[in-house]
Amino acid sequence: MPHVVIVGTQWGDEGKGKIVDVLSRHVAAVVRFQGGNNAGHTLVVDGKKLVLHLLPSGVLRDDCLCVIGNGVVVDPDVLLQEMDRLAATGLTLTPDRLRISQLAHVIMPYHLQLDRLREAALGKARIGTTCRGIGPTYEDKVARRGVRMADLVDPRRLAAAVERVLTEKNGAIAALGGEPLEAGKLVEAYAALGQRLAPFVGDTATELHRIHRGGHSILFEGAQGTFLDVDHGTYPFVTSSSTVAGGACAGAGVGPTILDEVVGIAKAYTTRVGSGTFPTEAQGEEEERLRATGGEFGATTGRPRRCGWFDAPLVRHAARLNGLTRLALTKLDVLSGLDEVPVCVAYEGVEADSFPADLTGVTPVFETMPGWAEDLTACRRLSELPGNALRYVQRVEELVGVPIELVSVGPGREDTILHGDLFTR
Ligand code: IMP
Repeated sequence: MPHVVIVGTQWGDEGKGKIVDVLSRHVAAVVRFQGGNNAGHTLVVDGKKLVLHLLPSGVLRDDCLCVIGNGVVVDPDVLLQEMDRLAATGLTLTPDRLRISQLAHVIMPYHLQLDRLREAALGKARIGTTCRGIGPTYEDKVARRGVRMADLVDPRRLAAAVERVLTEKNGAIAALGGEPLEAGKLVEAYAALGQRLAPFVGDTATELHRIHRGGHSILFEGAQGTFLDVDHGTYPFVTSSSTVAGGACAGAGVGPTILDEVVGIAKAYTTRVGSGTFPTEAQGEEEERLRATGGEFGATTGRPRRCGWFDAPLVRHAARLNGLTRLALTKLDVLSGLDEVPVCVAYEGVEADSFPADLTGVTPVFETMPGWAEDLTACRRLSELPGNALRYVQRVEELVGVPIELVSVGPGREDTILHGDLFTR
């Protein structure tokens, strides 16, 4: 059975959570490999909505192991709250259902403070982060002064790790006008969180290898999107992790030779949260309509998402960066009711097989596709789509150059056209 990486091909919020949930019935484990609770993955099952920030989107399948890999940054308080919320709905995650890498870095209170204070200090030049402490935690990881899950679950190691950095952190916090933290209280509170999480923490890389050797499939669940990648994204308006498929190896502890397929998730239009260039951004009523019909408000921060048209050069570049083997097109239903649908097919003066270092000032070249009026939610095969909707899907497939695996036509698990043979070949 294949090992599959799922990544967003745009700026996040492509609907990855739903697709991972749909595909997870075929796999033994779902693994998060980067990011943290800046993500918001929404699942709708039997009409009930569940938003996950840190837990992998396999939680609803009893027989699926959920793994938080070493590449993820973990806010222990948020994780426990998410587990408690799930438990209140009758789903208690036991240590044989959820594993957390002992090497994953911990989001500490000073990371949260610094993220907020720095954004405030940047004023109009702010990145528009989710203020969840993601960037400051990755900075400490690379600077070799981070706190890892192995420290969190051991009060003495935790105290030593905090003592090593707190003077410097408090200096930075005070310089930005924030309230310095007190070591004793911090260690006490976080040691308590560590004790609750301890049964879940271990060597997840070895566990994944065991599953691999047993011949079972693993799904690697990317968060954010390709153009929020710290290397390949629209820098500096990016997140601080490797969101591309290559990140799955380092962030989960598997070698590239075990991966079989990479599925890129693309929304049938484009959205972006936070600052940064967005060549196909719509304006006025057009944007309002996409936002209202698509429910385009951040699952994590509630911020209205910026909305625009499908950008084929962007997704084509994502296909190169991720080595996409299949494409999943989401939220096609949101485009129903438009007379015409613009699609960006090129950037003026930019070769189809190249991509600029900076998208600022790029002029999109639009092609106009005829729209369709019909509701698509009941369609279960491509052949059941109205002619113009089918032509739209086929044009996207042609422009991106990657075969369509599935098309999502509504928020529910069942509102899905499964077209490819990813798990049935
Ligand atoms: P950070 O990841 O909180 O540091 O935010 C950096 C940038 O990534 C900001 O523009 C955020 O809005 C964006 N971002 C982070 N996570 C997500 C996500 O899950 N979906 C969409 N945008 C995100």
